[in-house]
Amino acid sequence: MHISGTEFAACLRHVFRPKGSSTGSSLDTRNVNSSKQSSQKTNGFSSLRRRKQSSTARDSSAEELVMDSKQNLFDRPTSASPPPTSTASASRKSSSAESKSRQMSNGRIYHDRDDVHYLMPDDDEEIDRIHQQHWILSHAFGSHFEAPVHDALSKGITVLDSACGPATWTLELAELYPDSTFHGIDISPQFPGQIKPQNCNFQIANLLDGLPFPDNYFDYIHQRLMVIALTREGWEKTLKELMRVLKPGGWIEFKELLPRIDNGGPVTHRFVDTLRQVLDQRGMCPEIALELEDRMRGLGLENIKQRTVSLPLGDKSKISELSWESFSRSFQALEPWLASESPEEFGTPDKYKDRIRDAEMECNSLQSSGPWYAFYGQKPSLTANEAAVTPQ
Ligand SMILES: C[S@@+](CC[C@H](N)C(=O)[O-])C[C@H]1O[C@@H](n2cnc3c(N)ncnc32)[C@H](O)[C@@H]1O
Repeated sequence: MHISGTEFAACLRHVFRPKGSSTGSSLDTRNVNSSKQSSQKTNGFSSLRRRKQSSTARDSSAEELVMDSKQNLFDRPTSASPPPTSTASASRKSSSAESKSRQMSNGRIYHDRDDVHYLMPDDDEEIDRIHQQHWILSHAFGSHFEAPVHDALSKGITVLDSACGPATWTLELAELYPDSTFHGIDISPQFPGQIKPQNCNFQIANLLDGLPFPDNYFDYIHQRLMVIALTREGWEKTLKELMRVLKPGGWIEFKELLPRIDNGGPVTHRFVDTLRQVLDQRGMCPEIALELEDRMRGLGLENIKQRTVSLPLGDKSKISELSWESFSRSFQALEPWLASESPEEFGTPDKYKDRIRDAEMECNSLQSSGPWYAFYGQKPSLTANEAAVTPQ
């Protein structure tokens, strides 16, 4: 039996149940085990993927992509080689954009577009990982959000989940706050197509091309985990665009991880350092979590608050078990980039597997952890004079 990402999310919802902005959720061993099983089950890739078509916005051409990928599965390299340029190149039609994907040597499917810098795969295994990560973060932060918007959400406001991915956060919030209206955008149609709450709307959009919303439209904007998606220039554009669509007086919130392991061993550090090199070379901002507060201030945001949570990776707690699983799944997904960047260390599948195992042992023995950052701030309200000349 396979568990789809959506079913998996439903399971996890009952494991961690932070209520809106309140704290206190419990972890349950049975469910932790089931999450492990589920991640193993995602290895039944093609049949899982086919089942998912019904619950996401992917259309039937995604089905063709699956068939293509199955036919083009090829052996992984036995010696160091750069990420293959194009093995199974396939195009997937979506409602509003042509999106191209390619399958890499590790059998995973990645974006293959000049206008997309995102390094993680665009496949069902990744959807499962993102679902899982949502629940880990909500548990670790004790809440789905940090900004003081609970009352406004209860009364009914308009919310954007920027780069919503499979929309785990959007759907959860839409259920908790039925009087608010939620919009999710992403370059990939991982979000639900038709089966979704009435107060949820999704559309494909590239943040770098500008958002399909008028100025001053949202009361609250949430964006999470874009550190391996945006270049330095992309961050500039994105932040300006988000400010444009945020209402005066509205709140904006970011959650980002810092690629850094505290109390890590040498192998764990090499994973993280190599990832940083990859990001640097691609003009991305590995340190965005340390820059965001200043950037938010530079955009004129007020009432900025920041909170850091350190996720354990080896202290034997349930949250640590899950965090490690998420961490190792992320690095498995990043294999083509790391193998290409550091072939001596990571260049063959066997080496890569061994290094992940070594890193797990290090994290366990050193009780390592990784930091996550949350920020929120408020767009200044209009002065009486400005309000008088601003069309509503
Ligand atoms: C790590 S996932 C995070 C998903 C979701 N925010 C969450 O935290 O559950 C990053 C998402 O950013 C999307 N993305 C990357 N670059 C983008 C861009 N330029 N415009 C819109 N979405 C983008 C990816 O497709 C992916 O779904």
